Amino acid sequence: MGYNYRMAHLTISEASAQLGISIDTLRRWDKSGIIRAERNAAGHRIFDTEEIQRVEQKRHCREVSDVDQYKVLRASENKLYSSIDLFAGGGGTASGLENAGFSHQLLSEIDPSAAQTLRTNRPEWNVVEGDVAKVDFTPFYNEIDLVEGGFPCQAFSYAGKSRGFEDTRGTLFFEFARAVQEVMPKVFVGENVKGLLRHDNGRTLQTMLKTLQSIRDEKGRHYKVAYRIVRAQYHDVAQKRERLLLIGVRSDIDSPILFPKERDYIISLWEAIGQCPESPGQSYPEKKRKVLEMVPPGGYWRDLPEDIQKEYLGGSYHLGGGKTGMARRLSWDEPSLTLTCSPAQKQTERCHPSETRPLTVREYARIQSFPDEWQFAGSISQQYKQIGNAVPSNMAFHIGRAVRAMIEGRTNDEYIELEEVEPIAPVDSELINHEVAEQYSSAPTLF
Ligand SMILES: C[S@@+](CC[C@H](N)C(=O)[O-])C[C@H]1O[C@@H](n2cnc3c(N)ncnc32)[C@H](O)[C@@H]1O
Repeated sequence: MGYNYRMAHLTISEASAQLGISIDTLRRWDKSGIIRAERNAAGHRIFDTEEIQRVEQKRHCREVSDVDQYKVLRASENKLYSSIDLFAGGGGTASGLENAGFSHQLLSEIDPSAAQTLRTNRPEWNVVEGDVAKVDFTPFYNEIDLVEGGFPCQAFSYAGKSRGFEDTRGTLFFEFARAVQEVMPKVFVGENVKGLLRHDNGRTLQTMLKTLQSIRDEKGRHYKVAYRIVRAQYHDVAQKRERLLLIGVRSDIDSPILFPKERDYIISLWEAIGQCPESPGQSYPEKKRKVLEMVPPGGYWRDLPEDIQKEYLGGSYHLGGGKTGMARRLSWDEPSLTLTCSPAQKQTERCHPSETRPLTVREYARIQSFPDEWQFAGSISQQYKQIGNAVPSNMAFHIGRAVRAMIEGRTNDEYIELEEVEPIAPVDSELINHEVAEQYSSAPTLF
């Protein structure tokens, strides 16, 4: 019995030796779902030999076979539902929602190069270039299935303590809420960075939620609203990227609030960019290149000799925190770390895993799961910025499929799994005051 047990299972040190990686890396792989471990009676990780073989084969495939796992998700039937995409940028949400079956009736974007990207790829799209505050959405009243918007987060004034619509005036969130009010779509999806959860001790998010709940039309229709953190690495994207989603379903739509359910696999960087079409990209100054050359795949500044650590980090050397983004080289076996607006920033370095250079524009785009045909307009830095700002296209596909299920009154989908999330408690707009805000800020914190 004991013998069979040892044949089928390896301890963490045996497994790390077999895979040729450190115990720390193996622990990280277990936590992030790259490899599955079980626990023995003593609570220690044990690894099934078949699971080790599966992971070894997956790693080996990058030497022996071509990689075709990079997939941009697309539904077979297209353009069944109408949508408006606000803050459309270079089109991450726009392309993913299109692939999920949405036809955009209007896209709003202020940045000329991002707007040009949208027009280049889809000349037929109605791209309204300029400040969203100037766009009148009332002609779309009752005509649209989905309003989506990744509004940048800004502080509110709270002047009158009303914590409602008026407090948000002058912010881009206000423009998103105004679009929802004017259009009254069946579903809305707001998107933001995870940091919004904690912004101003949660008051900003609470004000947004209450504002969205207080939207009503003359028929008395309103929205039930829920929010959740969504992690791109579990939604067919080779990148760790977390976003806060606010979803609202109109009161006359008979559906629970559905979010895409996390997959139980991840996509490695190798699968995404192991065989990537060539494209322009930045390069490092020679001095920086020589430093990064010393960092192994998956490593960072701590892997440098101490004198070079001190010189490279300068004043940051003595600061606290892990500084885990500094001199960081990505690893082939894991999803990329979150991409930012520029591929070579000192605090958030993302050096290519085996070449000493920043990622190219197309590698950036693939890590955000844009289709290879998607072209980006503007200078190289503007292109990186549009890509780094985007919601990954495949994540937007997952969101779009969840929205379709809500509109169709289904709780399942042929492409992805769905998860019901309870709406937050309804707010009586008369009661939007300080006490209610306090009470709500201690309410549902997810993750
Ligand atoms: C986070 S990005 C959106 C990314 C986009 N959803 C995607 O997936 O590619 C936010 C966008 O809002 C745009 N923006 C900022 N202020 C705006 C305004 N006043 N009117 C319209 N667009 C605006 C920015 O130019 C930027 O492209």
